[in-house]
Amino acid sequence: MATDKIDIFDTTLRDGEQVPGCKLDQHQKMVIAERLDNLGVDIIEAGFPISSPGDFKSVQAISKIVQNAIVCGLSRSVEKDIKCAAEALKYAKRPRIHTGIGTSDMHIKYKFNSTKDDIIQRASAAVKYAKSFVEDVEFYAEDAGRTENAFLAKVCEVAIKAGATVLNIPDTTGYCLPHEYGEKIQYLKEHVTGIHKAKLSTHCHNDLGLATANSIAGVTAGARQIECTINGIGERAGNTALEEVVMILQHRMGQYYHTEIKTPQLNNISRAVSDMMCMPVQPNKAIVGDNAFAHSSGIHQDGVIKNRANYEIIDPRSVGVDHSSIVLTARSGRAALAYRAKEIGFNLFKNELDIAYEKFIELADQIKEVKEKDLKLMLSSLFTQVGV
Ligand code: KIV
Ligand code: ZN
Repeated sequence: MATDKIDIFDTTLRDGEQVPGCKLDQHQKMVIAERLDNLGVDIIEAGFPISSPGDFKSVQAISKIVQNAIVCGLSRSVEKDIKCAAEALKYAKRPRIHTGIGTSDMHIKYKFNSTKDDIIQRASAAVKYAKSFVEDVEFYAEDAGRTENAFLAKVCEVAIKAGATVLNIPDTTGYCLPHEYGEKIQYLKEHVTGIHKAKLSTHCHNDLGLATANSIAGVTAGARQIECTINGIGERAGNTALEEVVMILQHRMGQYYHTEIKTPQLNNISRAVSDMMCMPVQPNKAIVGDNAFAHSSGIHQDGVIKNRANYEIIDPRSVGVDHSSIVLTARSGRAALAYRAKEIGFNLFKNELDIAYEKFIELADQIKEVKEKDLKLMLSSLFTQVGV
């Protein structure tokens, strides 16, 4: 059965880079953009060109080197922003301008001190102006998560009429519950005249830890583009994590959807982004955390040694991790000790294992993790290595 393609829109270099302390220089941005292009993302949001001369130059440089992906630049619904984005993108093989405006009552009143009619008029004018530079124009309705659906539908309709090719529905404040976000997308599919002319996009923030769940709810309801960042990096609690949505689509929803992401590159790109942005990845982070394929309790270790699938739903190699690891701690059992001992050349008989285990537990209670060098030292003092 044919599956629906879900476009992956990476905004590591724009929404991700807005994080304090994560600023990248132009060279680093180019390196990441090239890696994202090789990874197979469909769209790279390279920056917000009007925000600084440095960002303008980076978007321009990225536009020149990206071979496959669409290169996108952000703008507000302001002519000088849009013109600047168009200028920065002029060397891109496939340029896209991303323009938009806040649509929630909150933003209309407290950010713009404006009216709904004025917002509609500005949205339409911005898309039309962007269209005078490029064919591919994405419109975002900022704070769509807290925007009343009927008004959101009106704004989307106007944006489509003005020529928008993609409609981005950001849950800017990470407010929605998955069923609410899904219903919002479904509402737009059902109530926006001309919706078949544009692609709906999710853009979810993680303030309540729901960014990934909301993005998937959006896809299930009809969105065909997901906006996300490597490691879920982004302002406050971050954005949807690229590696999470991609693996969910591949691993659990592959009968309906596919992406073009080369998943064995995920671990490496995660590390590169983390290093360059000086933003460590939490060890228990799904897919790319250090502990994502590590097992440390005796029961789990025994199960994994018998058959990896007892406690792992993803083959680590599919995301670029060589193998699962058996970590030796005071919670580890005999099976784990025997397994790790064998890996370093100690094939222990039952009585030897009993002796070694007693010593091991004493040691593990003193130090948090028994590393390979500690294990080698301990076993060498007890036994002679096989074949040595
Ligand atoms: O979260 C958001 O609303 C955004 C828009 C500017 C697209 O990042
Ligand atoms: Zn955002």
